[in-house]
Amino acid sequence: MKTPSLPPVLAAVLACLLGTAQAAELPRLVSQDGRHALLVDGKPFLILGAQAHNSSNYPGALKPVWDAAHDLKANTVLMPVAWEQVEPVEGQFDFSFVDTLVKQARQQKKRLVILWFATWKNTSAQYTPEWVKLNPERFPAMKDPEGKPSYCLSPFGTETLKADRKAFVALMGHLKQIDSTDRTVLMVQVENEVGTYGLVRDFAPAAQAAFDQPVPAAVLAHKKPVAAATGNWREVYGPYADEYFHAWAIARYIGEIAKAGRAVYDLPMYVNNALRNPLDQPPKPWNKDFASGGPTWDVIDIYKAAAPAIDIASPDIYTPDSEQVNANLRLFGRRDNPLWIPEIGTRPAYGRFLYAMLGRGAIGVSPFGIDYFNYTNHPLGTTATDKALVEPFEPVYRMFAPIQRQWAQWAFDGKTQGMGEADDRKPQQLDFPGWTAKLTYRLGRFGEAAWGGEFAKPTPGTENPNGGVAMAQIAPDEFLLIGQRVRVRMEAAEGTQGMMLRAEQGRFDDQGRWVMERVWNGDQVDYGLNLPAEPVMLKVKMGRPR
Ligand code: DGJ
Repeated sequence: MKTPSLPPVLAAVLACLLGTAQAAELPRLVSQDGRHALLVDGKPFLILGAQAHNSSNYPGALKPVWDAAHDLKANTVLMPVAWEQVEPVEGQFDFSFVDTLVKQARQQKKRLVILWFATWKNTSAQYTPEWVKLNPERFPAMKDPEGKPSYCLSPFGTETLKADRKAFVALMGHLKQIDSTDRTVLMVQVENEVGTYGLVRDFAPAAQAAFDQPVPAAVLAHKKPVAAATGNWREVYGPYADEYFHAWAIARYIGEIAKAGRAVYDLPMYVNNALRNPLDQPPKPWNKDFASGGPTWDVIDIYKAAAPAIDIASPDIYTPDSEQVNANLRLFGRRDNPLWIPEIGTRPAYGRFLYAMLGRGAIGVSPFGIDYFNYTNHPLGTTATDKALVEPFEPVYRMFAPIQRQWAQWAFDGKTQGMGEADDRKPQQLDFPGWTAKLTYRLGRFGEAAWGGEFAKPTPGTENPNGGVAMAQIAPDEFLLIGQRVRVRMEAAEGTQGMMLRAEQGRFDDQGRWVMERVWNGDQVDYGLNLPAEPVMLKVKMGRPR
């Protein structure tokens, strides 16, 4: 017999009245045709993130973070939670900061991504509790070939793994307890920028013994041998053996922690990465030029093999070189690896890359150091600690925020593309089924460069690259454009004829309805669609003569 069930709206009202609020769905990652979405409350969600500074994980430090995140129009804050703060005395946990953070995030109407700073933060042990730092016997460092200890904790420290895992499981248990209804916390980053500088791997006896063992089958299945098809690490991976082995050792360690945490509370989990040069192709063996063992693009396969509980290896982008940025987006956005940029520098040069990231279907992006704390990581980031800090990003977030759910759905369906202006300032193009968008930069909004004289001169304000556009093909002949400082010309696919029928400037309201503000025609379309310095949103209808 069929049991009568209440319609969802009535069920929700009843739950409210009875004080039995319904649990929202767990955030989770889904994939289709090699594309990905982060489902939040059951629907694709675009993380418009703001990452706090490293030392803002204390109740008294939160206000400048909320203020900056608010000014940025971020929907999610990325915040560290440190092992040293939650377990200052072994076995005694204190999650009061987590409680404050989650409560305030809800008041601020922000979601959270928690960054677990523990065994490794930028490869070092600085966020471990004192009882870990002061006991190298129990929590050993890696050793160089002469037996000299490195600054970096060993991934073969079985006690270290046990202790970190225990603290992480306690954290996940606590999150489950306080957040199973609201789901304010969307994802968890396990450790931070792992790997080791200056030493390619651990040479201590336990590590050496593992290095001399046959390469595990799971690794062989993911990462193509470069020498022998089977055998120990040196035999199979030749000159890459040490760094691949270290990646495997660290990934396995992190994978254990993530797996245990997810068994308690199953949130999506990821690792972030201090990048190696993506233009070093094919990659040369490690030569002290990056943190060996971190989830650099060339060892993502090893992370997939050794740490299946980690969903994403993600790039932290701190080089504004456009060729490198684009290469990183290509290398990290894979069928088996959602594109997610948990850190990007705050210098104005980075703003334009948001169009490329969101156009490429990233599940989100987050500038680092969005925090009015009186500190800046200049010269890596901007010098500003006031509203100027959010200026390169806020205009872009302002455009995407009202349609973040819709954009995430379009991206998941493969309808979006985007570009940031390249350092060489050259034209670019975006190819869609049936149509191509030709992009040019630095031109005035009237006239053609071919006319010479003033018309050929670069427009003031374009001295540095700062243009970009993201586009969604919302119907076969219809596009939504969001962009700044770029001329867009739509052309029909080769061999066909096409024309622009209508270009509306507008916005989406709170209900997700398009509000037309004006139709661009005459001067506004005679020389392509010239998007101004302040981002705009256009709905463009193309047509073909019958
Ligand atoms: C990358 C790290 O992941 C961040 O925590 C921070 O240290 C930045 N580098 C530098 O500000």
